[in-house]
Amino acid sequence: MRRFLIGGNWKMQVLTVDDAEKKAQTIASTIENIKRVEVFIAPPFNSLFNVKQIIAKTKLRIAGQNMHYIEQGAFTGQISVLSLLDAGCNYVILGHSEPRRIFGESNQTINLKVLKALQHGLKVVLCIGETAKEREEGLTREINSSQLSECLFGVSDEELKKIIIAYEPVWAINNPYLNPGIEIKPATPTQAASAHKMIRDWIRKEFGNPIGEWIRIIYGGSMSQSNARELLEITDIDGGLIGGASLTAESFTPIIQIAEELSKDIEELR
Ligand code: PGA
Repeated sequence: MRRFLIGGNWKMQVLTVDDAEKKAQTIASTIENIKRVEVFIAPPFNSLFNVKQIIAKTKLRIAGQNMHYIEQGAFTGQISVLSLLDAGCNYVILGHSEPRRIFGESNQTINLKVLKALQHGLKVVLCIGETAKEREEGLTREINSSQLSECLFGVSDEELKKIIIAYEPVWAINNPYLNPGIEIKPATPTQAASAHKMIRDWIRKEFGNPIGEWIRIIYGGSMSQSNARELLEITDIDGGLIGGASLTAESFTPIIQIAEELSKDIEELR
């Protein structure tokens, strides 16, 4: 069994450092009894450093929500991998559907970011996923495979150990800007199981069986306390990337507790 990873993606929802610190502190204290699940939050850039100070002695980790693929230079509005490391990040989320689909980030750009993050030892949560239209057109496999092959271009077997894949079907992400005019709903366990198996099979085929076995593939898209158990019980689902439900300890911690309950056979984290 693989260790569950539960990540909280705060997007642009927590606006002040003060609020971010309070939320992080509450989450950190409500997961004190969590021993087997890896947990991170991804606060907005302005509060990363302060949040890290607040949670430094806890098991909670932090992630950047994106980064540029060049380390330093005249790139207005971007953040460097070196700044994420300086703030104390352990992970970076790359390829999320919001930068992809709202701001036009391409697989090629994401690939450069993946390589840069790996070069500096940051763990990468690489998001992939199809839109509602692509699914209706029968393109689910094609879209996810091309996102995987183009975003992982040039990544070695060894480097893949630092990557976690997040399958986030765009139609399930609770975001009306991404999904105008469609009813947003989480993937059913059947839909999620089949997509995760497809992704794992792709990794097995491209990188070999052992890597396909241990790589973690987490699910994102309207995951909450009410559907977490049925999703996390699926063999190929190794955690969750949680947006809306990660914004308060009341909605986030129960998901982590469920993952902990399902982790009896896993060694405690040190
Ligand atoms: P959601 O977001 O849980 O609010 O649907 C998930 C994500 O975008 O990572």
